[in-house]
Amino acid sequence: MANLIDGKRISQEIKEELKIKVAQLKEQGIEGCLAVIQVGADPASSVYVRNKKRACAYIGIESRSYELSDETTEQELLSLIGKLNEDPAVNGILVQLPVPPQINENKIIQAIDPAKDVDGFHPQNVGALVSGLPGYVSCTPAGVIQLLKRSGISIEGKNCVMVGRSNIVGKPMSLLMLRENATVTIAHSKTKDLRDVCKQADILIAAVGKPKMIDASYLKEGAVVIDVGIHRSAENKLCGDVDFDSVFAHVEAITPVPGGVGPMTIAMLMHNCVEAMTR
Ligand code: GUN
Repeated sequence: MANLIDGKRISQEIKEELKIKVAQLKEQGIEGCLAVIQVGADPASSVYVRNKKRACAYIGIESRSYELSDETTEQELLSLIGKLNEDPAVNGILVQLPVPPQINENKIIQAIDPAKDVDGFHPQNVGALVSGLPGYVSCTPAGVIQLLKRSGISIEGKNCVMVGRSNIVGKPMSLLMLRENATVTIAHSKTKDLRDVCKQADILIAAVGKPKMIDASYLKEGAVVIDVGIHRSAENKLCGDVDFDSVFAHVEAITPVPGGVGPMTIAMLMHNCVEAMTR
């Protein structure tokens, strides 16, 4: 019988720990403030942004909202980021992605002061992760590590197959698993014999962006499965990259969608915000 990895419970546990830390920092006169910028009104982004602001309020830090029109120019956004970089009251800055096409995402990421880059997207923070130096780590991959550790799943020496190679998930996730002494394979849409590669995994992490693509034929019996995907089915139900019902009987442990990786992203964002307060 498979174990469900409960992201809701674990994210709550982390937020409770952070709430205590924030209260202690406040006693020392240290306040937290996250600036959240959204350009345009993408409905999914609005939900994420609302949840991020709620989490700030929950752990006791301020959030400042900047809701910009979808006609905002790159220069206008860069100018706002410049002001927030200089504002000593702001210790974290987040630009919700994606941004509209007239704005170059990489330019925006690189404009954020790396010391306030609580998303961990700035090349300086990515470079720190590659080199094993301190820096902010991308929230979703950091959340997956916490899910595994807090569920008592050992990583060291395991074969980990990461399916997906995005800058936000696949690449930093692979580096974090390597840092935890896993043997890591990065697979992607061009990987030959993807099924056979996945079947080698003790821990399979799916971030492919295709609903229910990973079924039991991709898995070794008793693997641990982490599902980073989130999609809405034709029946308006949430599902992941993994065909949960088909694999459940064959795995040792698995994250559900919703309630698995999703809540962890925000918990780790809060973790990074608290780290930003102590810098
Ligand atoms: N869009 C999707 N995921 C993320 C994230 O983790 N951070 C930001 N800023 N935008 C996103």
